[in-house]
Amino acid sequence: MPRFAYVNGRYVHHPHATVHIEDRGYQFADGVYEVVPVHGGKMIDEDPHLDRLEHSLRELRIGLPTSRTALKMILRELLRRNGVVNGLLYIQITRGVAPRDHKFPQGAKPALVVTTKRTKPTATALVENGVRVITIPDIRWKRCDIKSVSLLPNVLGKQRAVEAGAFEAWQVDEKGLVTEGTSTNAWIVTKDGVLVTRNANEAILNGITRQAVIRLTNEAGVTFEERPFSVAEAKEAREAFLTSSSGHVLPITRIDDTVVGDGKPGPVTRRLRAAYLDYIAA
Ligand code: PDD
Repeated sequence: MPRFAYVNGRYVHHPHATVHIEDRGYQFADGVYEVVPVHGGKMIDEDPHLDRLEHSLRELRIGLPTSRTALKMILRELLRRNGVVNGLLYIQITRGVAPRDHKFPQGAKPALVVTTKRTKPTATALVENGVRVITIPDIRWKRCDIKSVSLLPNVLGKQRAVEAGAFEAWQVDEKGLVTEGTSTNAWIVTKDGVLVTRNANEAILNGITRQAVIRLTNEAGVTFEERPFSVAEAKEAREAFLTSSSGHVLPITRIDDTVVGDGKPGPVTRRLRAAYLDYIAA
């Protein structure tokens, strides 16, 4: 259990940290969040995460409750107080506290909560054997580029994966094209050896890990395309993997009941995972 949480201007003992019952995040999921990975005591890609946070806020017309500089100080102070070396920072901003009424409240102040979590390195078995994903219909709204706290479809999807003995669920649009995982971005290496991930628009969250891995593709010496791919194409692929702040780059060796490639993490996935781990270690 972390020692402290930051709640609306104060560092409070985590077990006693509370928000008001009329917080619009609680009532309407009227808020956004970010998850920033921490490695060796340092944040990874802090500015890209804060840029995405500001994008989410702007799209929902919620103000940033502190300046960016002040927020950065809060993040550092919470990491220090909680002694986090490897883990995650969770930042949540809601439209604030007001009597329940759908329209934007007048004069409510956006509410800011920051917590931390320590994480262990990804289990070796997952990295060495790869994980399984199932495919499910994408039932989310049409603005998945906003990192909204409204995550019910993602929660239900992840639970379906867990109950199916899988690690993640790939969400599939009405055209049969994979959008993304419930909390991860989706990648394949096609049967012709082309690395593919869906182009970032309103259909997916533009992962910060995704963007870092795209920058690393040059070094990995692989042809890369940003475009949607179908479940059928993925099942014929040589390799598949997922990316996220918590899992980094994780091989996928089974999609539903189809074995991907030879059933082992492939060379492109392994190279990109190693390159990403080098990047965060630097
Ligand atoms: N999830 N797609 C979705 C729907 C996500 O929720 C996430 C992140 C990603 C990967 O983004 P990034 O590389 O920036 O972590 C893709 C976070 C980790 C979460 O909800 O806990």
